Amino acid sequence: MLNQLLFPVAKRFVAGQTIQEAISAVRHLNAFGILTTLDVLGENVSTRPAAEAAVAAYLEALDWIQREGLSSNVSLKLTQMGLDIDRDYCLDNVARICERAAAGKNFVRIDMEGSAYTERTLNLFYDLFRKHQNVGVVIQAYLHRSEQDVRKLIELGARVRLCKGAYKEPPSLAVQTLAAVRQNFMSLASLLLKQRIHPAIATHDDVLLSWTRNYIAQHELPKDGFEFQMLYGVRSHSQRQLAEQGYPMRVYVPFGTHWLPYFYRRIRERKENVAFVLKHLFRK
Ligand code: FDA
Repeated sequence: MLNQLLFPVAKRFVAGQTIQEAISAVRHLNAFGILTTLDVLGENVSTRPAAEAAVAAYLEALDWIQREGLSSNVSLKLTQMGLDIDRDYCLDNVARICERAAAGKNFVRIDMEGSAYTERTLNLFYDLFRKHQNVGVVIQAYLHRSEQDVRKLIELGARVRLCKGAYKEPPSLAVQTLAAVRQNFMSLASLLLKQRIHPAIATHDDVLLSWTRNYIAQHELPKDGFEFQMLYGVRSHSQRQLAEQGYPMRVYVPFGTHWLPYFYRRIRERKENVAFVLKHLFRK
């Protein structure tokens, strides 16, 4: 019931519940010169059939991308692939997706989840990367451990998406103020941008966007040596503007029926969003 009431609001952040709706969003963004990454919503699955359904949905998404000639890759979560069920089972599931992506010269990004999964996600990624070069991972700037992880990933030549981090983490694991997160973000971004392994700078934060543009200009790095990434429904005008200015811009396009946890994270990120949800509910 609450789901039904909330979905019209969630549609600001979620492209739809079906692959057809997601593909139509991708087509629309591609028409503005914006790249995308498709995310089949889902996390923390506890049964093999649920993990297998997620794998099938990703294989289908990759087939659509290939068939329609779209500029899109995919992003997935390891807990959606069965990490909580069995690690090797999860590894096999993701490997199947990487193989299908490789057949279409495409790329798979492993999202980063809460800190209970950081170590396991990176370890599984290292195993996967030994066989599949078309896979990358995400680093969260708020974690104290991230500099060490970034250095290791650079050494391997792995592609990293850098974001602030979307989960609630304790001070023992993560910095807690916006200033400190931004500071970490900039120092990690400078490590990544210098290495030219096509990092993704995933933020909507004007301070970090300007900082990145200045860094690229000052170090005479090519604009196409990295990409900006933003979320579907967040700062769409800036997405188009950056693409028009010649920066590769990729939008994360989530779709599917398991949209609630993703939606909740988006609402938590900004207090104005809580008012937006309440206003919608009371209008009903
Ligand atoms: P910040 O939150 O400071 O926002 C800057 C401005 O952007 C706001 O003032 C507002 O205008 C706009 N904005 C940002 N979020 C908004 C929202 N929810 N609603 C409306 N406006 C909003 N995290 C993670 O832990 N693991 C992951 O794998 C990923 N993956 C990922 C991929 C991509 C492509 C992006 C852009 C982000 C992620 N994230 C993520 C989420 C990330 O960690 C972070 O929580 C959000 O990007 C918000 O942080 P910002 O840097 O955008 O700045």
